[in-house]
Amino acid sequence: MKFQNRTFLAGALAAVVAAGALSLLPVNAADDQDAAVERTRKTVRMLDDVYKTAVVLITEHYVNDDKDLPAGAAAIALFDAIKKKGWHEVKLLDVSGEPYDDDNVAKDAFEKEAVKQMKSGKAWYDKVVAGENGNRTLRVATPIPVVMEKCTMCHPNYKQAKKGEAIGMLSYQLTVE
Ligand code: HEC
Repeated sequence: MKFQNRTFLAGALAAVVAAGALSLLPVNAADDQDAAVERTRKTVRMLDDVYKTAVVLITEHYVNDDKDLPAGAAAIALFDAIKKKGWHEVKLLDVSGEPYDDDNVAKDAFEKEAVKQMKSGKAWYDKVVAGENGNRTLRVATPIPVVMEKCTMCHPNYKQAKKGEAIGMLSYQLTVE
């Protein structure tokens, strides 16, 4: 009887140790990393809706002639402030080939490829890259179509765009946490 108990205890102990070791397997670490990228993508989807909705609302209600502060310029000022606060980086860039401001164009390899992807009608283009301090960075580009007639008041070249065609994009960089 005494002997049987001891065997049972040893068996139970082995099971507990095995379960503990299982939870440390690298497979789970990989799953966790993918889940972290997926959570970051979700944050970008949320930001994208917030920023684009704000730009459309501002243009609709506050921009009445070409002397008013364009929502695009307000967005760039907002993006600068958000970057300075250390949250994330986001840029308003041209895809049409005729930017209002020559500074608002694709600069690096990711953005240049993103312009091609947006032109070909993609609604999303992303890449996970090495970031600072061993962190990973999620880069995402999302398209901006000519959402309303008013846009052409200051961007006459948008008149040539087909319905739904991307003339601009938002380029995001977020740390994967
Ligand atoms: C009142 C004039 C005006 C209106 C209306 C306007 N924009 Fe702009 N847009 C600008 C200016 C000025 C800039 C450059 C801002 C800067 O660099 O600070 C700009 C920049 C942009 C950019 C970045 C690329 C570039 O051309 O420099 C995009 C994309 C853009 N606007 C899209 C739109 C869309 C879409 C609409 C309609 C919802 C719109 N704009 C309405 C004046 C305007």
